[in-house]
Amino acid sequence: MIEEASLFNRSLGESAEIVRKQMFLVRNQEDLYALRPEGTASVVRAYVENSLDKTAGFVKLYYMGPMFRLERPQKGRLRQFHHIGVEAIGSQDPDLDVEIISLADELLRSFSVQGHKIKVNSLGCPKDKSALNSYLRGELKGKADALCDDCKIRHENNVLRILDCKNESCRRVVESLKIGDFHLCPECKGHFARVVSGLDSLKIGYEVAHHLVRGLDYYTRTVFEITHDELGAQDAVGAGGRYNNLVGELGGPDLGAVGFAFGVERLLLAAKLPPQAPSGGLVYLICLGDEAKKEGVKILDSLRKGGVAADTDYEARSLKAAMRKANDLGAGFALIIGDDELKKNAATVKNMASGEQREVALTELTKELKC
Ligand code: HAM
Repeated sequence: MIEEASLFNRSLGESAEIVRKQMFLVRNQEDLYALRPEGTASVVRAYVENSLDKTAGFVKLYYMGPMFRLERPQKGRLRQFHHIGVEAIGSQDPDLDVEIISLADELLRSFSVQGHKIKVNSLGCPKDKSALNSYLRGELKGKADALCDDCKIRHENNVLRILDCKNESCRRVVESLKIGDFHLCPECKGHFARVVSGLDSLKIGYEVAHHLVRGLDYYTRTVFEITHDELGAQDAVGAGGRYNNLVGELGGPDLGAVGFAFGVERLLLAAKLPPQAPSGGLVYLICLGDEAKKEGVKILDSLRKGGVAADTDYEARSLKAAMRKANDLGAGFALIIGDDELKKNAATVKNMASGEQREVALTELTKELKC
């Protein structure tokens, strides 16, 4: 979770929003560390450090875990959130981009997320990216007055980011720009054509969005973002793309790579999860009187040790209130022990669904109640 801060400066770029404003930094006497804001740079760092290029070559990796960004919290935007990410390292093949996007699409379906939209674009190789940068800088030159303060700075040091600024006035400027695929060299154009035809062949719905640029420097060629209307302003449930130069930049050989990450908290907002099933396996123990309570401590312990999920009332409720609690917890059975039951070394077991009651010997409880 903690990396040398310079890893992110080198991979995401000095001018990336995450690096400039959003890293939680930890300093000791000599070094500067960061709570990781994302996983891709760390995965590539580990790939190179462990010489996987020599021992494994092409790899498909996944990770799940907390990430940290110093952002203003709002719905779907947290300072500690979680990624589920995948990275395929060691290939330039456009069919791999298709596989990665199709995996994201399929995973969303399996998480009960429906109605998501996939936007794809190609930034091209570093030469193409720099052509796009120069073009945009030129086009925006006379329009700087209409840009927000952040975008005035971006015009100088990170012009691509202006394309995904949410400010109303910046959006109007961006909409007036002609952006297409004219910055792409023939190889990158061919690569992207193969990606979209692959998506077509798998019947995956997508939209080509030339305004989609992503905020991290490491991206080359394919980039994509998956949005969902349930999420409001922070509408990206996941995003990813190719980063063909990152392995080389972090000290490894020149290898293509592509991946994506989902934000788990946003998945939960977007997922149409079925209402939680009642925990029918739970047994709720109700002891009436002090003697019963003493016996209850042992019964609860032996039920749990026997693998029965069990709980009891610690608030000295009346029988009626305790039964209501058992109902609220969705318990399958209420177990009632009073003086009468104690004399018989038995408990009354009530089936919460049918209302049926019967007496069960204390020694038989675990066997009877184990589902
Ligand atoms: P990212 O777009 O910065 O990409 O983050 C991926 C996803 O994490 C977003 O689409 C969003 O769902 C979620 N997310 C980001 N910031 C927050 C936040 N503050 N609160 C809650 N959720 C958030 C990456 O991080 C790249 N590493 C993805 C990637 C993998 N590209 C290639 N491989």
